[in-house]
Amino acid sequence: MQGTIITRTRTAAVAVALALASPALAADTEAGLALAEQWCNACHSIGNEEARMEDAGPRWTEIASHHGDALLAALNTPHDFMPNFPSLTEEDKANLVAYIQSLE
Ligand code: HEC
Repeated sequence: MQGTIITRTRTAAVAVALALASPALAADTEAGLALAEQWCNACHSIGNEEARMEDAGPRWTEIASHHGDALLAALNTPHDFMPNFPSLTEEDKANLVAYIQSLE
């Protein structure tokens, strides 16, 4: 019984997150930048600035044209060198993707 409620709540949360990730809805690029400065810029050039730490990951200006779903998938998939970020919410990820795409 309780499990069902939790599952339903999760499903609803995922639906909201997917809606937030939709490119049709404006996500918060300012919040995305703040998150990027906290979590991502050790390895990625997150704007138009010079390379950081020898650009361990691709410069975001070069991946800005990628589809939002592809960026989100990359963010949700463990990579060779890129860690996962379990503390990021789906909304955080949507904001990060929106910020990356705003660099195009
Ligand atoms: C420890 C270094 C490191 C950190 C921190 C890091 N990344 Fe990465 N990232 C990489 C590397 C290396 C790659 C490319 C190789 C790979 O896929 O593993 C990559 C690839 C990516 C890609 C895929 C690019 C493409 O080709 O489409 C995205 C999107 C991305 N990172 C976003 C982020 C975001 C958002 C954060 C912060 C939450 C972040 N990264 C933090 C190292 C890092």
